[in-house]
Amino acid sequence: MRILGIETSCDETAAAIIETTDNKISLLSNVISSSLPLHSKTGGIIPETAAREQVKFIIPVIEQALKEANLHPPAIDAIAVTFGPGLIGSLLVGVETAKTLSMIWNKPLIPVNHLYGHIYANFISEIHNSEFIIQNSAAEIEFPLIGLIASGGHTDLILMRKHGSIKWLGGTRDDAAGEAYDKIGRLLNLSYPAGPTIEELAKKGNPKAFNFPRPMIGSADFDFSFSGLKASVSRKVQLMGRLDDKITADICASAQEAIIGVLIRKTLKAAKKYKVKSILLGGGVAANQKLRDSFELEIRNLKLEIPLFVPEKSLCTDNAAMIATAAYFNYRAVPWQKIMVNPELYFD
Ligand code: KG4
Ligand code: ZN
Repeated sequence: MRILGIETSCDETAAAIIETTDNKISLLSNVISSSLPLHSKTGGIIPETAAREQVKFIIPVIEQALKEANLHPPAIDAIAVTFGPGLIGSLLVGVETAKTLSMIWNKPLIPVNHLYGHIYANFISEIHNSEFIIQNSAAEIEFPLIGLIASGGHTDLILMRKHGSIKWLGGTRDDAAGEAYDKIGRLLNLSYPAGPTIEELAKKGNPKAFNFPRPMIGSADFDFSFSGLKASVSRKVQLMGRLDDKITADICASAQEAIIGVLIRKTLKAAKKYKVKSILLGGGVAANQKLRDSFELEIRNLKLEIPLFVPEKSLCTDNAAMIATAAYFNYRAVPWQKIMVNPELYFD
């Protein structure tokens, strides 16, 4: 089966085509156009600008995805589209385009929750590009599993007993983990989104230089809170006055240590409690190498023997491959007339 995925929930306009054989997912093309450079100066996404860019790029991106996969529309078996959560203007562009294609191509249409997509990025086992094929261990994922979604808009822990059976365990009460990176970046005059820059600067800093708070790290639930950390960094920045490169690197390393520390502690607590067989990470923050390495190290230290799965880095941030994959494993086609965007969509 071949599925065309469409993702337009925020500032990325994305289309991808997956091919499935015996539950193995091969990614034939993965095209992403981002309006991020337009937002980097303003320190955050401007919804109006994001939606206008979506309109400009949606058709060329879909055409490019077909071209790179060397396919024509009749070879597509179904279309998958993100219907929420996200920015209403951006979501509408993807959903209305998908509905139109579903009607004129006469293909089933599967609405997908963007948050499920971030977890399903882990189930892509083969990535084709123009020169080579990347293989990974997606086929070894076993249920039950714990999923951590850490992105710019969300930080959620979920328990999955099988495909389609998702239990939400907890989430952030204020800022998301990626949002914490971005807000701390703004305090340090770094451009948006700050996650990758903070990761880079932190390499030269001392993670123990500042003892930033790790909110809710010991709480009995699976919730998170990152706004107190941002406030503490803000106070430190004010106190310091002028920030030289050394202090900036130390703040980046120390703040990153706090964010990563909480994410790991809560995720592994859930993994132990529910005796899971796999741990899956997803979302933009999962692209962070320090987070990936620290997770592996802590799993070994605690002798948990639970395999950790992380998507290829380009599949951590928003993309349409994860949407097509989530649709394959949760195949529920809905007549196009009945599909509506839901900007507030969460876990049901
Ligand atoms: O998943 P994503 O592309 O979009 C949402 O659905 O929100 O995540 C974007 C977020 C941004 O907050 C960005 O700063 C963060 O992911 N991010 C990172 C890294 N790369 C992206 N955070 C930490 N380290 C990174 N390497
Ligand atoms: Zn996302």
